[in-house]
Amino acid sequence: MNMVDRFQAENFTQLTPAMQTAFDQDGVLLLEGLVPPSACDGLRAHMDQMVDSFDPQEHQTIFSTTNQTHSQEDYFLSSGHQTRFFYEDGALDEDGKLNRPFEQAINKVGHAMHDQDPHFNQFSRQAAFHTIAKGLGVSDPLLAQSMYIFKQPKIGGEVICHQDATFIRSEPNSCLAFWVALEDATTENGCLWGIPGGHKDGPLRTLFVREGNTTKSITLDKTPYKEDMCVPLPAPKGTVIVFGGLFPHMSKANTSPKSRHAFTLHVIDANTHYPKDNWLQRPEHMPFQGF
Ligand code: FE2
Repeated sequence: MNMVDRFQAENFTQLTPAMQTAFDQDGVLLLEGLVPPSACDGLRAHMDQMVDSFDPQEHQTIFSTTNQTHSQEDYFLSSGHQTRFFYEDGALDEDGKLNRPFEQAINKVGHAMHDQDPHFNQFSRQAAFHTIAKGLGVSDPLLAQSMYIFKQPKIGGEVICHQDATFIRSEPNSCLAFWVALEDATTENGCLWGIPGGHKDGPLRTLFVREGNTTKSITLDKTPYKEDMCVPLPAPKGTVIVFGGLFPHMSKANTSPKSRHAFTLHVIDANTHYPKDNWLQRPEHMPFQGF
C-alpha cells in the first residue's frame, strides 16, 4: 500500500521542499496539528450555537411545497452565497417534515459561511491557509466554498470516489481543498480515503453543472479510478488535508458511535476562468473574495 507522508505542522510558517514534493507526488498533503485544538473546539461550539438557533419549522415551509424535488434543488442552487442546512437523504417526509430527530438528520451546512459569519470568516482566512494556497501555486486565491460536515454517528453516509473539480471547476483547473479534522477522523468514524498519485492518473472524469433551475452530471472521461490503490487518510483533530481538484478521494459510512465533524474550504485562482455552468454561483454584487 502506498502510504502518504505525514508532516507535523504545529509550528507551521512555510511549506518545506519535502511538503511540496509530497503534494506533487501524492496529490495530497497531510499537515498534522496545523489547527490548534482550541480553534477546532471553538468552531464546533459555534456550530452548536448555529444549530440551536436554527428553526426546523421555518425550514419546513421551504420544503412543504407540492414539488419537493424542485424546492430542494432551488435551496441548494441558491446556497452559493448563503448559510444553509442540508439533511441526509431521505430525512424529509412528503410534507417537508423531518422523519427523525434533527441531530440525526443534519448532514452539512454550506456554502458561504466564510463570507457571512465572522467566526467562520476568521477560521477560513487563517494565514496558514493563505500561505499554503500560494505555496501550492494558487497565485491569487479566492475563497469559493465552505462546508461544515457532521458525519453523524451511525448515520453519516458514504461519499463515493470523486474529484472536487467536478463541483468547483476553473479553466485551467485551480481548485484546492482544505479538509480540516475538527475531531479525530479514523477508519471507524469515516475518515477520508484517497488514491496517492491519482491526480496524475487520468483527467477530470465528470462535470456537475447547473442547467436552468436544475443540475446534471456530464461524463467527460471514462478512465476508472484505481480504487484498489485507495488508502485511508486518518487525521487526528487539528490535521489539515490539502488536495487539488483532480485528487480522487472518498469516505466510507460512519458506522461508529462517534461523530466525525470536519470543515472544508475550497479555493480557486482568480487568474482562471470560472464557467457560468458551475453549480456554485454568486450574485454579481457578492463575488468570491480572497484571503
Ligand atoms: Fe470531495
